[in-house]
Amino acid sequence: MKRTILITGGAGFIGSHVVRLFVNKYPDYQIVNLDKLTYAGNLANLKDIEVKSNYSFVKGDITDSNFLIDLFAKYQFDGVIHLAAESHVDRSIANPLEFVLTNVVGTVNLLNAARNIWKDNYEGKRFYHISTDEVYGTLGENGLFTEETSYDPHSPYSASKASSDHFVRAYHDTYGLPVVVSNCSNNYGSFQFPEKLIPLFINNIRNNKPLPVYGKGENVRDWLWVEDHARAIDVIYHNGLDGDTYNIGGHNEWKNIDLIKVMCKVMDKKLNRPEGESEKLITYVKDRAGHDLRYAIDSSKLQRELGWKPSLQFEEGIEKTIDWYLNNHDWLEQVTSGDYLKYYEQQYTKR
Ligand code: NAD
Ligand code: TYD
Repeated sequence: MKRTILITGGAGFIGSHVVRLFVNKYPDYQIVNLDKLTYAGNLANLKDIEVKSNYSFVKGDITDSNFLIDLFAKYQFDGVIHLAAESHVDRSIANPLEFVLTNVVGTVNLLNAARNIWKDNYEGKRFYHISTDEVYGTLGENGLFTEETSYDPHSPYSASKASSDHFVRAYHDTYGLPVVVSNCSNNYGSFQFPEKLIPLFINNIRNNKPLPVYGKGENVRDWLWVEDHARAIDVIYHNGLDGDTYNIGGHNEWKNIDLIKVMCKVMDKKLNRPEGESEKLITYVKDRAGHDLRYAIDSSKLQRELGWKPSLQFEEGIEKTIDWYLNNHDWLEQVTSGDYLKYYEQQYTKR
């Protein structure tokens, strides 16, 4: 079936994997990637598919409602997969308003644009909102987030994502807009901007720079390989129930410090360093404000109802990921020049 699908944030980390999967897997779909190209958006992430005839890129800002109305009128989208967001917790602590604008106002603008073009004939239409497990807050030692867990966000980032999730569901309940939402755990893999833990630490280990571990390094995250997230998005976009929510996770919990030690060990081998050398770079620094202790996802609903499960074991995934960053030196160099240096200084000096 022919469809025209808008993917927002397709030049970012997860978005670029979703765009690649859809463009390659569905030659009959027209995929339009809308991205503002903030510091986190990079067209180099899509080099391999940019010439495909079923792909086009539009540079634009989802906070601009008139621009979105015109875009929807031009392309008459059948579906929206909405990933565009400000996504880094530390930046949200430094500048919360940016997160309200893009994540909340931008999402409402998209909902309005979709509603405006689809009017009340929602046949074959779908608005898919990509969210995070961070909306559920933090867990103690035990338990998992399910789709029924109450929202309890603590950072400006998670508060803005929680707010956008509520708006998406409100448009379903109020206007009947055909929506689906998923909440995923931490992703890792290629093309992730090196402000997030895994690519940041790979880059620092490579450059023999200190590894700034927040607090005692005891916070726990549930890591999922990004290509498995993209596969889940494909399954949910096509088969998820209208108005429903699906949790996506890797059943792969790691304490930060244990994960960092694994990365150091793998990289010692790859870089031909004596065993234990990279671990010496570990530096404990002041904790992140409002730092959630533990995230862990119960994704059994998605597995049971739609048949998705992660494809990759973490040990294999982390090695693949480290290899990718070591082999894509030019990409890393490009994204860590310019403004990145300013950000790094502000975020980590005097910490
Ligand atoms: P990212 O920061 O790598 O990419 C975000 C993209 O959105 C960038 O390309 C950026 O240019 C674009 N963008 C930002 N503001 C925009 C605006 N105003 N208009 C248009 N485009 C804009 O983020 P990511 O890690 O790929 O996350 C993508 C989505 O997945 C986000 O909604 C995030 O909340 C969600 N998510 C991320 C993770 C994770 O571990 N990274 C986990 C669960 C959910
Ligand atoms: P991050 O990759 O920012 O993802 P999130 O905060 O959305 O889970 O951080 C993952 C974990 O790593 C989190 O507990 C914070 C911690 N962390 C550090 O210890 N040092 C760092 O420099 C960064 C960026 C994160």
